[in-house]
Amino acid sequence: SAFLCVKNVLLLFINFPGNRAIGGASIQSSTSADWIAEKAIDGNRGLQQLRTGCSSTLNETNPWWRLDLHDVYRVSEVVVTNRKDCCAEQINGAEIHIGNSLENNGINNPICAVIPDIPAGESNNYSCDGLDGRYMIIHIPGDWKILTLCEVEVYGYLAENLAVAGAAIQSSTFEDWFAEKAIDRGLQQLYTECSSTLNETYPWWRLDLRHIYRVSKVVITNRKDCCAELINGAEIRIGNSLENNGTNNPICAVIPDIPAGESYSYSCDGMEGRYMNLIIPGDMKILTLCEVKVYGEGIHQ
Ligand SMILES: *[C@@H]1O[C@H](CO)[C@@H](O)[C@H](O)[C@H]1NC(C)=O
Ligand SMILES: *[C@@H]1O[C@H](CO)[C@@H](O)[C@H](O)[C@H]1NC(C)=O
Ligand SMILES: *[C@@H]1O[C@H](CO)[C@@H](O)[C@H](O)[C@H]1NC(C)=O
Ligand SMILES: *[C@@H]1O[C@H](CO)[C@@H](O)[C@H](O)[C@H]1NC(C)=O
Repeated sequence: SAFLCVKNVLLLFINFPGNRAIGGASIQSSTSADWIAEKAIDGNRGLQQLRTGCSSTLNETNPWWRLDLHDVYRVSEVVVTNRKDCCAEQINGAEIHIGNSLENNGINNPICAVIPDIPAGESNNYSCDGLDGRYMIIHIPGDWKILTLCEVEVYGYLAENLAVAGAAIQSSTFEDWFAEKAIDRGLQQLYTECSSTLNETYPWWRLDLRHIYRVSKVVITNRKDCCAELINGAEIRIGNSLENNGTNNPICAVIPDIPAGESYSYSCDGMEGRYMNLIIPGDMKILTLCEVKVYGEGIHQ
């Protein structure tokens, strides 16, 4: 029968430098016997865990399977393994969609790839270069279709740290404490890997996100070598204006203080902007940043 089961596995492998376990939710348009969508979920970050069984829908019109990644990922590739017990051709024509919309069960999101076919029991690799999304949907358009998935792997990274793709600049630079060092994601604990301005009036640091985003939060890591209090009073501003070097954009938050070497998070509630500025108002100020992360969603045209 079409549902003769062999020991198949449905894997979910998210490879990302962030710190959120998936614990994601999968769901499908209908379920054949115990071939439930949930069998696909492996909540362990970066680990592959075997599960017995495949997911499968009933024989229906436009069957789909959807994964909620719980965060916006930039998906580089998706690997789908087909069933090997029978009827490998059932996967033919399946579309892989990735995006943030749940409209039409997520099927209206952009297509990463259309699967022409996958030999029984084999895995094919689909490049999704540049597609960001919280949801990944596999969908077979048409009548009398059955969607069975024996392995799904999603490779990508948290798309939300928008700072990584941005360009940093600051009002002045102390020695080699370049603006870019605040977005290197690297050795932020090291004394040498922070940005710093000179001692000046109204020092600022600005990130050009290159597109307009709805910023949900900003995370700032303070220096730990000394003088943690220099950050006190820094303003986080977000907007589209470069007037006054960005200092006229609306304020998301004012930083009261951050203990040495720690990272504090500031909620910006979806403020829109292409530019994110940090500014310390006043004279004789030094703005030093050991890491800046910006989380948010792109605004799709
Ligand atoms: C997918 O293809 C890329 C490029 O050929 C390869 O490096 C990668 O290992 C493949 N991934 C899997 C899971 O087979
Ligand atoms: C789905 O059901 C239709 C109508 O009964 C049948 O013709 C078709 O072969 C079934 N499709 C699959 C993939 O089993
Ligand atoms: C922008 O910042 C630069 C560098 O600090 C400064 O020379 C310039 O006067 C500033 N421009 C405005 C409009 O504030
Ligand atoms: C900045 O320069 C002023 C004047 O030289 C000095 O008094 C002040 O301590 C300096 N600030 C810092 C944080 O080094």
